[in-house]
Formats: sequence, structure tokens, C-alpha cells
Amino acid sequence: MAKPLAVHAQAEHRALPPVTHDEFARQEFVRAFKEHLVKHVHGGNRAVYERKVKPAFERSHKRAPKTRFEVRDQMVHEPYYQMFSTLLRTSQEMMWSSCQKPVERDLPALNEVIAQPPRKAGGSLRLNPALEIPRYHTAVDIHCQPGGYHVEYMPGDASAGMVYDRAVHVYAMGQMGPYNNDMGASIAMWLQRHHPDFKPQRILDLGCSVGHSTLPYAEAFPDAEIHAIDVAAPMLRYAHARAEDLGVAVHYSQQNAEHTDFEDGSFDLIVSHILLHETAERAIHNIVRECHRLLRKGGMMIHAETPPYKGMDPFDAFLLDWDTRNNNEPFWARSHEIDLKTLSKKGGFDPALEFEDLIPSAFQVAQASRSQKFQGGDFGGGGLWFIYGNRK
Ligand SMILES: C[S@@+](CC[C@H](N)C(=O)[O-])C[C@H]1O[C@@H](n2cnc3c(N)ncnc32)[C@H](O)[C@@H]1O
Repeated sequence: MAKPLAVHAQAEHRALPPVTHDEFARQEFVRAFKEHLVKHVHGGNRAVYERKVKPAFERSHKRAPKTRFEVRDQMVHEPYYQMFSTLLRTSQEMMWSSCQKPVERDLPALNEVIAQPPRKAGGSLRLNPALEIPRYHTAVDIHCQPGGYHVEYMPGDASAGMVYDRAVHVYAMGQMGPYNNDMGASIAMWLQRHHPDFKPQRILDLGCSVGHSTLPYAEAFPDAEIHAIDVAAPMLRYAHARAEDLGVAVHYSQQNAEHTDFEDGSFDLIVSHILLHETAERAIHNIVRECHRLLRKGGMMIHAETPPYKGMDPFDAFLLDWDTRNNNEPFWARSHEIDLKTLSKKGGFDPALEFEDLIPSAFQVAQASRSQKFQGGDFGGGGLWFIYGNRK
């Protein structure tokens, strides 16, 4: 029998858009629907592959499939995979729709709440209306998020952030904790365990969205000054209101992580969480180079991502690639193919100091991989979050 998933109810805070009974029931249905797919449907894909697709391939090719492309060429014709894939895509669309409705219903009033945070924490918000949103964002509604992160339906709009906060809870099926902060909390925990003497004074979170992963660093390093940037103003407006209400001082600014306005050597720790796979390859190289410029000597950058395809079983890689083909994630595949040592080297880092690890979840909700958590696959390794980083 599949292990029960640990579901955390989402923590309420002033910025979180309220839901009616029926709206909540709808979001809960989507969460449970996805959980059903992950726990009870996903595993059948491997059974179809092992019992039917792989033996047929071996008979005709006299060898097993070697790449995710060879697996895909066969699996896309399988009715079971087609059913699974259709349902998973449907769950994604239902997720956005169920989280959008409560926001659309009362948007002007909700935006007023965001515009007047209680200001109890001492953080700040610096927006730059002149900032150019990169084409890799404007050209696609990433992961089927209607309008993407940056869409604004009225002046001062934060609706993309409101929708995102609820949607991440549904997407992760409540497993990232009441504050959706498992990635940041897990890296902070990893740092404290593996680098107990590392006490960053200035921390920067790149592509922070609504600050889910940012806030745990304030708890782990209470003396640090925390900065967080994103290109999308609606996410930052919401992030600022959320952090202030939760009593955490974060200095948010609207900037492109490829080229920021911070001075050379201004941070001890730079982190990002599932940012890289949403940017074009050129941008990933620019971001790593910018991290090198912004870090002080001895500083550290850490990027949390889904694991690279390298060394992965072709069937697992095929499943991990699902988002590229079915979830409007055009950069997903390429970002998982980049050689990380080369990335570090091109960015100016010493490749000898580069590190990669699969780290455990701070919430201890699974001993398996992230993909087991979100898609039902088991990509091995024993950890949950994949991190890639370097020291300067
Ligand atoms: C998947 S979300 C990140 C989630 C967030 N880090 C967390 O842990 O909850 C990706 C975010 O990166 C932002 N982003 C994408 N490209 C960026 C760039 N070049 N500079 C800054 N932010 C960027 C997007 O606007 C979006 O909010």
C-alpha cells in the first residue's frame, strides 16, 4: 500500500485571499485528485513500460532503450500513459482555475489589503516599472499559469501572487508545509548541518516569487539581512505584504537576476529555488556569473532544482521530462542537460569547489525524490531536493 502523504493545511495570513466554503472544497478536490494520480495512477506507467514497451523495444532493437527520447517515442502511443498524462494536465489547469476564481471575485478589495501591509517587520519593497520582463517570460504562460507571473489587471495588482500562493499549496498537495516553505527550510537545515560555522550576514534569494522559500533563512540566520528579487511586480507586492504580516523583515526589489544593481561582493549567501529551469540557457549562465560577482570571498551560492538527467534511468528521465512537453515548461529539458561543472567554470567559479547533493526535506515527509512527491516517480538518490552550488 502507498504511504500516506503528510498534508499540512495552509497557514492563514492577512495577504492570503479568502475562500468561501465551496471555493475551498474545489481546491481540496484538485489537491485530492492530484494525490490520487500520484499515489494510484502514476506507478502504472512503469508497469506498462516494463511489461510491454521495453520488451517490445528489446525484441525489435536487440537492446534496451538508451535515452528518454526512445522511451517517449514508444510510451506516447500507450493508452495508459495517454490517460495519465491527460489527467495530470487537467489537474494543472483545474488548479489554476480553482485558485483564480476567489481572487477574481474581489480583486480591487484584495489589492487594497496588499497595498497596506501592517508594516510590523521592517522590510521594504522597491519596484522598477521600467524593468524589461525577459522574453522567456512574456512568450509563454509558464506551467500553464494564466498570464504568467507578471500579468497586471489593474494598477498595483498582486493577483498573480495571490493565485500562486494558493496554487502552490494545491500543487504540492500540502506537502511543502503550512507556509509552502520546504525548499528554503531544507537548504537552511542542510547549511546548518553541513556548514555549522557558516553564518551569512547578507543573504539574497533570486526569483523569490511570493517569498515561500525566502522566509526560512530569516529564521535560520536571525542576524542576517535578507534580500529577495524577482522580475514580476505582482509577486513582489504580495511577497512584501505576506512577509510583513508574518513578521519577517525582507528587502524585496524588482530586478533581473541576470544583472542586478547590487554592488560587487555584497552577499555571503545567494540562493534560488526552482528558478533556473524557468529561464533560457543563456539566462542561466548569466545568473551564475552574476552570483559570482555578487558573492564575497568565501560566500556560497546554492540553487535548488529538479535533478539533472545525467546518469538517470531513461524511463525516469522520460517521466521527469513530462513538464517540458505537457506543462508549458519550454526550458525544463535543456536546464536539466547543462553540465554543472561547466556552468560553474563559465560563471567564474572554481569547478573544484562545485557541489551537488540530494538533500532531505525539512518536513521529513518523504525519503524519496521530489518527483515522487509531485509526480509519483522515484528518481532515486534518497534525498528530496536536488541542490547545485559553489563557493567563491
Ligand atoms: C518557480 S518560481 C520560484 C519559486 C520561489 N523561488 C519559491 O521557492 O517559492 C520562479 C520565479 O522566478 C522569477 N524569475 C524568472 N526569471 C527571473 C529572472 N531572470 N530574474 C528574477 N526573477 C526571475 C519568476 O518571476 C518567478 O516568480
